[in-house]
Amino acid sequence: MLDDTTPPPAPIAERSAFWDARFGSEVYTYGTRPNTFIAAEAHRFPDGADLLDIGCGEGRNAVWLAEQGFSVTAIDYAEAGLAKTRTLASEHGAEIETEHADLGYWMPTRQWDGAICTFVHLRMSERLRLFTAIQAALKPGALLIAEWFRPEQRTDGYTSGGPPTLDLMVKPRELRQHFIWGDILLCEPTDVTLNEGPFHQGPAATVRFIFRKGEV
Ligand SMILES: C[S@@+](CC[C@H](N)C(=O)[O-])C[C@H]1O[C@@H](n2cnc3c(N)ncnc32)[C@H](O)[C@@H]1O
Repeated sequence: MLDDTTPPPAPIAERSAFWDARFGSEVYTYGTRPNTFIAAEAHRFPDGADLLDIGCGEGRNAVWLAEQGFSVTAIDYAEAGLAKTRTLASEHGAEIETEHADLGYWMPTRQWDGAICTFVHLRMSERLRLFTAIQAALKPGALLIAEWFRPEQRTDGYTSGGPPTLDLMVKPRELRQHFIWGDILLCEPTDVTLNEGPFHQGPAATVRFIFRKGEV
């Protein structure tokens, strides 16, 4: 909870230092192929839709979506990830708009026809704020398709990746409580086997989520 003693946020470069370091090598941390849930569900987006990739990392999903004919804006606070996103896009002959922003404080200045988010793990206060921002970023009727680690990734001892502490994990219950401006089409704790580059390998506990923004 915020109170009078809560310090202001650190500068963005300090907050993103961990991810800039992780993305600093030529290796694509989570591979260059799209997340399987996004690849399986992207058919739900209208042809040629204008999509937002929230926390794009090194661009594996954004580039694949652009190759499917979508127009993609990819947001992240890690400059190293955005640079690799642009490199991957140009290697695939794809065009992507990148935006450098801290999702813990980001508010959209426009709306999109759809959005994706995979494995972006923020602290609770920032996460709930982001859930509001995502809903504001969707046009009426637009979909969010997302996958995150859920707390069982740590409590059940999985070693396939993910944040170190439970407070960074996404609980299905909080999604049901905070995605209120529309309909939740899927909110499913899922046991998956990840095969996404060197940092996401093996059995994992995730939550898969599809939300449709209401028409109001
Ligand atoms: C595990 S990676 C996932 C990247 C990508 N979505 C994927 O699945 O390949 C988490 C990403 O979230 C980004 N991220 C974490 N916190 C963020 C924040 N506060 N603002 C913007 N990006 C953030 C990191 O920079 C990193 O790119």
